Amino acid sequence: MITPRQAIAELLKRKQLKEQTNYKYYPLYQNTSRYLVLKGGGGSGKSIFAGQKILKRITGEKGHRILVVRKVAKTNRESTFQQIKSQVNELYNYELFKFNETDMKITYKPNKNEIIFVGLDDVEKLKSIHNITSIWIEEASEIAEGDYRQLDIRLRGKTNYYKQIIFSFNPVSITHWLKSEFFDKKKEDTTTLHSTYKDNRFLDDEQIKVLESFADTDPYYYQVYCCGEWGVLGKTIFDAEKVSNRIIQLRNVKPVKVGYFEYKYTNQEIDKKSIEFIEDTNGFITIYEDVKKYNPYVIGGDTAGEGSDWFSGQVINNNTGKQAAVLHIDVDEDLYARQMYCLGTYYNDALISLEANYSTYPIKELLRLKYHRQYMREQEDTVTGNIKKSFGFMTTKVTRPIIIANLVKIVRESTHLFSDIKTLEEMLTFIRNENGRAEAQEGKHDDLIMGIAIAYYSREQQSYLIEVPPEEKPKYSIFDDDKEDIEGGFFD
Ligand SMILES: Nc1ncnc2c1ncn2[C@@H]1O[C@H](COP(=O)(O)OP(=O)(O)O)[C@@H](O)[C@H]1O
Ligand SMILES: [Mg+2]
Repeated sequence: MITPRQAIAELLKRKQLKEQTNYKYYPLYQNTSRYLVLKGGGGSGKSIFAGQKILKRITGEKGHRILVVRKVAKTNRESTFQQIKSQVNELYNYELFKFNETDMKITYKPNKNEIIFVGLDDVEKLKSIHNITSIWIEEASEIAEGDYRQLDIRLRGKTNYYKQIIFSFNPVSITHWLKSEFFDKKKEDTTTLHSTYKDNRFLDDEQIKVLESFADTDPYYYQVYCCGEWGVLGKTIFDAEKVSNRIIQLRNVKPVKVGYFEYKYTNQEIDKKSIEFIEDTNGFITIYEDVKKYNPYVIGGDTAGEGSDWFSGQVINNNTGKQAAVLHIDVDEDLYARQMYCLGTYYNDALISLEANYSTYPIKELLRLKYHRQYMREQEDTVTGNIKKSFGFMTTKVTRPIIIANLVKIVRESTHLFSDIKTLEEMLTFIRNENGRAEAQEGKHDDLIMGIAIAYYSREQQSYLIEVPPEEKPKYSIFDDDKEDIEGGFFD
């Protein structure tokens, strides 16, 4: 039983904690994910929060030995150790803590909980610490993936309370392992948070000025330290600055909906009328612009090859050129084909243009399901000279550079057409290799890029116009408002 007095004390404590914490971080005190990944620009409050959470835990839960790790012991002493000491001083009763300067260890006397600070360069010390109950990796972008895996292994075994690794870091490079590990795919038991100086109400004006000044002086610094977005170094094929700026713009834009299609499948057929979009935040289809009546759409698709790429589907509003929806899925071919069937049906029987290189199965499956609005390619028979028509888009030595160059031009001239951050991020890791071939950097993917490149290229086989049946035409055009959005027809 809790007495009214205790209840009030508890309430006051909570109120105080809220006042001491940035709003974006406050809910994370409750967060018990194994991986709590704090990515952000400089001065966004990551380190302070990590310290706050650790202190809250060691003073509130029993049986803790929490490790605070940085690449180098010396810098750990100057940063996290100093920081947590002054946080104790500010927020807690200093007398209740014991500080061991030589060993860089803080003990909370009432329950003997410990925070141990260690550098990855202090291998002996690291090895000697056992029964770790949680970890904070400060400036995690400095440490190697292998070191993270080792630490992850160290955090096993039974503990009274949840085990958590907090990562705090600036997103120094879009090719960093932290991105592949925690951001490219949904990792189980993981929470990620993006923050910038704007989320830190305690930051002083001087620091804000410095961060904002990067806009004029250094685009890379601006990207990483002011905006907290993955940094891009080196040569990309797409205009990295425009792509990066578009990502920043989109960061606060919510999609219309996320989910997947459900449908009745009987007698080997999809019942068109039964197709229904089910909203689910774990879904693999993201809709940025919902279907508009009579509007023509094109869907480009990249099928998974022998590599580890996923299947993609990119929906383009063929009237405006805008990216309307994205399907991105790691499944077998027939499920992909059926979801594409539904997506096409949903978007006014869109023209579907699927890459035919690796497998023609999804194309055939669409046909078998009686989906007939597919892109058609023409090929001359080298023997007879006859023109042969086939469904699907063939990526060849000739067509590949053409569709990529076309996409590069669209990105440069009309970056606002793109709505999907993942697609844009792929553009930032799409480079020219030593042989001059445009391709995804090692370990990165290009299925979203190829999907949208095929979609844009296939536009000419679909109408550009919104064709309203005469009987439904209003006196004044309802589309007058949309005029600004209209991009000329086909880009080439
Ligand atoms: N909860 C807070 N209370 C008071 N000051 C804060 C708080 N969070 C951040 N600050 C101030 O903002 C500065 C930057 O925060 P910090 O956590 O170091 O940012 P980051 O680790 O994201 O670079 C700190 O030095 C501190 O002065
Ligand atoms: Mg920090």
